[in-house]
Amino acid sequence: MGMTQASTKTLSVQEAIETRRSIRQFEQAPLDQGDLREILRLAGLAPSAWNAQTWRFAVVQSPELRAQLQEAAYGQPQVTSAPAVIVLYSDMEEVLATARETAHPGMGEEGAAQQEQTFQNAFGAMSVEQRAAWANAQANIALGYLMIAARGLGYDTVPMLGFQPDKVRELLGLPAHAQIAALLPIGRRAHEGFPHHRHSTDRITKFY
Ligand SMILES: Cc1cc2nc3c(=O)[nH]c(=O)nc-3n(C[C@H](O)[C@H](O)[C@H](O)COP(=O)(O)O)c2cc1C
Repeated sequence: MGMTQASTKTLSVQEAIETRRSIRQFEQAPLDQGDLREILRLAGLAPSAWNAQTWRFAVVQSPELRAQLQEAAYGQPQVTSAPAVIVLYSDMEEVLATARETAHPGMGEEGAAQQEQTFQNAFGAMSVEQRAAWANAQANIALGYLMIAARGLGYDTVPMLGFQPDKVRELLGLPAHAQIAALLPIGRRAHEGFPHHRHSTDRITKFY
């Protein structure tokens, strides 16, 4: 694969999607830090409206902090079973303050100014809560990428919304307006999880 330093064979996108399932018991070995960085880099390639890239990652590997996160997640055991937990959040106020960074460098100073203006026009009149919800929707695109990228490199995850956001924000020192899209325990599977149970394509699709 040339570009990656992955320590395992990479899966095709189809294999990654087929074999991803929520895993709640993990092998205890620490994560390969190169693989972890590659997974985060790949997730960061997710698309977002105006290239806003609202997602931010807080990677928790310290056992003490994972234990505290587990408490904030109603004691769900996968939080401490996994060698790492990626807290995927968005901070739209920081995104707005640094809008210029997301303009394509090829567009020069004019592009950076334009990006700033676009963001002001789109979000300036919204409440902090409204634009935080918008940022969270963009962050969820990266969440999908993150899970598939992890599986593609041989890792397993479980997305989690079962936690108290205020407590997690406090543990990580995040501002009150930060939206947490998910906690994502990540590691190598120590059980097989459950097979997929999904609607058929016909049940959820209309062809026009
Ligand atoms: C946004 C989101 C939040 C979830 N929250 C939890 C959670 O708090 N705890 C948990 O054990 N599973 C959680 N899940 C996992 C789902 O139960 C699981 O993805 C679903 O049942 C489909 O199973 P699969 O992931 O194995 O395909 C969550 C999934 C998503 C997408």
